[in-house]
This record gives sequence, C-alpha cells and structure tokens, in this order.
Amino acid sequence: MGPASRSNPAEIGSPGPVADCSTVRVLLAMQPSPRQQAFRSVLLAAGYEVWCTATARETCALLARDHCDILLCDVQQSDGDGFQLMAQALQLHPDLPVILIAEQASVDLARQAIYAGASDFLSATTDPHNLPIILERNITRHNVQHTCVRPQKATSPITLEAVLDTLLTAINARDIEAPGHSECVTAYTMALADRLALPTDQRTHIERGALLHDIGKIAIPDHILYKPGPLTAEEWDEMRRHALTGYQMCAPIPALQQAALIVRHHHERWDGTGYPDGLRGAQIPPGARLFAIADALDAITAGRPYRPAQPFAVAREEIRRCRGTQFDPELVDLFLSIPEETWETIHRRAYRS
Ligand SMILES: [Fe+2]
Ligand SMILES: [Fe+2]
Repeated sequence: MGPASRSNPAEIGSPGPVADCSTVRVLLAMQPSPRQQAFRSVLLAAGYEVWCTATARETCALLARDHCDILLCDVQQSDGDGFQLMAQALQLHPDLPVILIAEQASVDLARQAIYAGASDFLSATTDPHNLPIILERNITRHNVQHTCVRPQKATSPITLEAVLDTLLTAINARDIEAPGHSECVTAYTMALADRLALPTDQRTHIERGALLHDIGKIAIPDHILYKPGPLTAEEWDEMRRHALTGYQMCAPIPALQQAALIVRHHHERWDGTGYPDGLRGAQIPPGARLFAIADALDAITAGRPYRPAQPFAVAREEIRRCRGTQFDPELVDLFLSIPEETWETIHRRAYRS
C-alpha cells in the first residue's frame, strides 16, 4: 500500500519506507487523541507500520481496498459503534485479528467482544508500552488458531513437528506457564506411563497431550490471564474454558486427536466433580488420569504465585489424601511406589535447579 491510499495522512505523519513482506501493518481505528498518538509512537518505535483512521467510515473504506495485519479499534467510534465496525472488518477480512479497546472496560464487555469475534480486549488505560507484546501475542495466537483449526487452507504441507513447535511457541509467547513447567509435568507423566508398559503409540499421544495441556489458555484475554488479584466467579468460568478451547484447537489435527482428549480432560476428577465434562472414574481417559497426578505434584512442589513450594513428602501425602476423590486410586498407588528421589531428579532437570 502506498502513501496515496492512506486515508488520513495528517494523522499518519510522513510516509516511511515501503514495507517489505515481513513488516506488520497495524491499523489504529480511533479518533485523534493523546492516547492515539501515544499508541502510534510506541508502535512505530517498535518497528510496526502504523495506519490511522479517525472514523468507522474511513476504516471500512480503507479495508475494502487494502488489508492490514491487525486492527486496533475503539468501541466508541465518532460515527458509529466499534462492534459494528469489527463485524464489517471481519466480513471483509475474516482472518483479521481485531483488538477492541473500551474507555469503560468491564468483564461483560470483554466477554461480549470475544464472543463477537475480537481476538482480544483492552482497556483504554492500557499502558501503550505494553502494546508491542500484546500485538505479538495476538498475532501468534491468531496464526496458531488459523493453522490448527483450518489446516486444509495451508498452501504448503505442514508437518506435525512444525505444528507442535508453533503451539509450544504460542504457550511460551504468552507466559502461560512458568519456565520448566510443561517439561516437568510431561516428564512426571511419562515416568508414571513407563511403569504401565504402554504401547509406544499410546505413550506418544500421552506425551503430546501433557506438553499441550494448557494450550487453550492462549485464547484467554490478557486481563484475566495476567490478573494479579483473585479471579471473580465469571473470570474463573472464562479460565476453565481453556480445557475445551485447547481440545478444539488440537482435535482437528489427526495426529493430535488422542492428545486432544488429554487436553480436554486434564481437569476432570475421579469423583466426577472436575471439568469440563464432569467425567468420573474410568470414563476419564487414562492419559488424563496420569497427567492429573503429575500436575498436582508439580503444583505443590514447584509452587504457584499464591502458594510457596512444598517438599516432595508433602506432595506425596496430599496425593495420597486425594486417592479416590481427585485421583485414580490405582494410579496413586503406582505413584506412591516410585521413590521420592525419582521425582526430585526430574524436577531438578526440568527447572535446572
Ligand atoms: Fe489447565
Ligand atoms: Fe499447566
């Protein structure tokens, strides 16, 4: 796109060099304001190509003749509604990631935005300096979903390794897990699986499922995923959706269909009080039952932001206590038969401590 097609040169400033194919084009659909200027400055400094439009009408006209890589759109447009504008933008470019921005942010509005097709939702008070990382996460997430949900649109063959790499990169890009967590829970899960003498292909499915267990969290809006304080009931509902979202991402890939079951059911409990399906006992896929013990072991011994790390002996007692309620009793017995040192060695390797 050349400077002549930019809709509002006064807001855009002097044209930069012609973008190469690796330049990310960001369209800021918001009225001129100090905030818009700050967003623009930070994004230009971060190397993005930035276009600005002041009205919904201008934005639609621009998108009808050109495309951008990501749209940041105020909910309140000077000549209309940001939701409507997003719908029109998505009609023109169904794969366009759109981030809605609201002056009066609320959980309800965020939910409404995500359900209406927004990739993310921001408060107008968002620190402009956080924009580059927010954009990077959204573009990565979008590419992953595009790759995974509609693999048939790919123009070149996609290997399973490439898909796994992309998914794991997306997990890391969003800081969903503490460094070492995925590696550690996967190693714990496989240490249990090894004692069951499972066929190789089943081991492979379990390993992939363990690695990808929380992939669905990449679709959780930032204001919930990174909320420093306790979550509200509604935010917890949103957070719990990650199991189903992760399943929906993995299941369309034939080689990940078995792993997708672990992703879906990794928060089920033996007594049927887990989620998302409330499965009980043997209804829960065996890989998910193994993983549940591994995840609890890591949660207790590696600690969480709200709970300090505990000794392995404490974890063993806690898992024993939940035998038959949270966990498969036979698998708990298997876990207890493995010496504590085995778990400690895996932990040290994963966390390099
Ligand atoms: Fe999870
Ligand atoms: Fe996790």
